[in-house]
Amino acid sequence: MNKLNLPGPKAKALIERDDRIVSRSYPRDYPFVMGHGKGTEVWDVDGNRFLDFAAGIAVVSTGHANSAVVKAIQDQAEHFIHISSDFYHEGWIRLSEKLGEIAPWDGPSRIFACNSGTEAVEASIKLARFHTKATQFVGFLGGFHGRTIGAVTFTASKAMYKNGFTPLMNGVVHVPFPNPYRPLLQRRPGMGHGETVVAYIEEEIIGRLIPPDDFAGILIEPIQGEGGYVVPPDDFFPALKTLCDKYGIVLIADEVQSGMGRTGKWWAIENFGIEPDMITSAKGLASGMPLGALISKADMMSWPRGSHGNTYGGNPIACAASLATIDQIENGYLENTRVTGAYAKEGLLDLQKKHKSIGDVRGFGFMLGIEFVKDRESKIPAIELRDDVVHFAFERGLLLLGCGKSVIRITPPLSTSKQEVDEALAILDESIRLAEEKHKIS
Ligand SMILES: Cc1ncc(COP(=O)(O)O)c(C=O)c1O
Repeated sequence: MNKLNLPGPKAKALIERDDRIVSRSYPRDYPFVMGHGKGTEVWDVDGNRFLDFAAGIAVVSTGHANSAVVKAIQDQAEHFIHISSDFYHEGWIRLSEKLGEIAPWDGPSRIFACNSGTEAVEASIKLARFHTKATQFVGFLGGFHGRTIGAVTFTASKAMYKNGFTPLMNGVVHVPFPNPYRPLLQRRPGMGHGETVVAYIEEEIIGRLIPPDDFAGILIEPIQGEGGYVVPPDDFFPALKTLCDKYGIVLIADEVQSGMGRTGKWWAIENFGIEPDMITSAKGLASGMPLGALISKADMMSWPRGSHGNTYGGNPIACAASLATIDQIENGYLENTRVTGAYAKEGLLDLQKKHKSIGDVRGFGFMLGIEFVKDRESKIPAIELRDDVVHFAFERGLLLLGCGKSVIRITPPLSTSKQEVDEALAILDESIRLAEEKHKIS
């Protein structure tokens, strides 16, 4: 396995220019400068080849430069690029119909289109308030929902996202996310971890802080993304849904990262057997064209004309890219994600047997997380070791992204093959070996 000499001269020169002019608020974990890509493979500006198991933060669902998506974009661009959300066009209507068809509930839907995940979340907050005429919400520790003031109020994965930006939105209380590997609450007698969290919301939050009539909604990622690819236990969502039904609370599933087939089902919430009232989508929705959507049960989207909108909502090129994306997910990539994702998880579980620093492997489809610990007894997060694994993998031609304190996410395009998974696992194996050697874990 050859170590690449990175960054190359062209990448270095571009990074220097970027550093002089581009906002320094972007994370930029390592110096990858994109040249071009095809499927799961990408090449940097110096011609070095990588496997992209980050997929632009779980965005490039059909792979880079997917031929059908490229053609849909080109065809649409030749007709018209923009018309504004004041008017109608067929692509937007077709996409909304399709999203309504795949929404995770029986019955009709309505769709609000926007340009990003944070805007979809923002729309869900406004709609839940409008629909219930109530103002208060519950969010979850470790959650990530975006960076606009409303969405970042719910975001609770790192204090840095709020530092210097307060005051935020009023009326959001955070509760522990049910994390089976690191539960924050002591399990109550006769209850699982998930039910314990729901009992905490009912007794401590509704009982002491938010009277039911003021309670608008609960915003939750079915599987936490940025917070560490945390999968809740099976007893959680059924209990949460019962609670929401009991008090008339709107349940919003933020599927920006976990949706669009990433877990091997259209929406991650489908892994837990309940129907939310609204879902937010973005990222994988249009294979990389900026597109977000709030998908709601039809009777809840009761706001009148003019009450919420935007200039670019339903952008024709983004809609065309999304229709081509959905078509391919439906006709092969969903199945590939189930089968090849399960294969990748088996491979990661084998790596766990071999490497003591891997404390936990979790997830579904191509939404997989590996949590690194100093030792499996104390479960102390091995933060520097995780960072080193990401860097060693980059130097050997594999793009990865961290999340949580010491987790690596495995989120390749949904089109990724078993051979590509094998190649990535071999690089990961070697990178973990090197990091364990450096941190003296054997
Ligand atoms: C679950 C979730 N919600 C919302 C967002 C915000 O999306 P965007 O960056 O498109 O605004 C993200 C982004 O990572 C996300 O993972």
